[in-house]
Amino acid sequence: MKNATITGWGRCVPPQIVTNDDLSTVVDTSDEWITSRSGIKERRVSHVNNSDMATLAARRAMAAAGVTSDDLDYIIVATCTPDRQIPAAACIVQAKLGAMQAAASDINAGCTGFIYGLSMAHGLIATGTAGRVLLIGSERISSYLDLDERSTAVLFGDGAGAVIVEATDRDEGIKSMHLGADGTGAEALTATGLGTEFIGQEARLAIIMDGQEIFKNAVKRMGDETVDAIRNAGWEETEVDLVIPHQANARIIDAVRRRIKASEDQVYVNIHKYGNTSAATIPIALAEAVEDGTIKPGAKLIFVAFGAGLTWGASAFQWGDRVDPIATIDDDLPTPDRTGIEILVEKHKALYG
Ligand code: UT7
Repeated sequence: MKNATITGWGRCVPPQIVTNDDLSTVVDTSDEWITSRSGIKERRVSHVNNSDMATLAARRAMAAAGVTSDDLDYIIVATCTPDRQIPAAACIVQAKLGAMQAAASDINAGCTGFIYGLSMAHGLIATGTAGRVLLIGSERISSYLDLDERSTAVLFGDGAGAVIVEATDRDEGIKSMHLGADGTGAEALTATGLGTEFIGQEARLAIIMDGQEIFKNAVKRMGDETVDAIRNAGWEETEVDLVIPHQANARIIDAVRRRIKASEDQVYVNIHKYGNTSAATIPIALAEAVEDGTIKPGAKLIFVAFGAGLTWGASAFQWGDRVDPIATIDDDLPTPDRTGIEILVEKHKALYG
């Protein structure tokens, strides 16, 4: 059976930054509250569609892997904020890439989407259905934010990350994988106003969360999953080089770190820069950690997440030899003509008047 490893990585974070102080001009909140409760200092807000960020992250990952769009067998987009409900975001990305040999579908597992996607890529590779999978986590979650719902409006941000997952005979890649879900907790983190259930109703589009319930569950599930992922890989906790956790709250991340008695250097944290980018979080952090030299050849990594569904999951992953991209591309998103806060306020006015 083939192993599944990552040979390319890329990210696309939109250029417009919204700081906590910027948000405080339109939301009843403060930098002090957001920083102390979540660790977030700023987030990115996109002026382009989710699929545009996803496509650029994908092209960067393809360059890093040294592959072309014709080499892709399958495209998976993990997202809960697709451009459209029909068709899948992956089909829109496929067309933008011209990857006409590839099958394409989405996964919605909330913030755990990237790990669910990695599991799917693993299965496609292990069964020989695909040899090379483009896996993207991409969110334009700012589109769902209601600035009057301050308990969630301050937490989320936009962005995309992508990896190329390839079949290999080398002893590397996915070493353990576990996923879980509890749909009875659906109401604890949900978006209202979107979906067939709401047609004909006057439901307001907003993300609604029982923050403390989610917090409690996230600490437990992410801690348990991290411990199990390490054990199931046959590793000791001291062998782990880097945990890349979902970034929803710096206090949750710290609780996971303490659970496995890891040092601060062993856990990747970028929540202060991007907030919670849902399914995009882990691939953005992964690409950043390779680029900034945190991930070394052969590194033992843990990916772990918890999110809407409720869903959770973790994977132990051994990096290969290569930490340098085979190639890079110069392309970027078009220059925005509005500030991040203007984009948020305009969208809010268009939705709610
Ligand atoms: O990605 C999926 C997973 N998501 C998560 O893991 C998120 C998990 N939850 C959390 O991270 C935290 O629960 C939050 C950051 C969302 C909230 O932190 P908390 O310490 O649980 O605060 P809280 O919900 O208990 O709210 C405390 C107070 C309330 O005021 P009162 O009733 O005590 O007077 C809220 O009204 O903070 C108030 N509040 C705010 N104040 C200023 C809520 N949102 C804000 C805000 N600014 N943005």
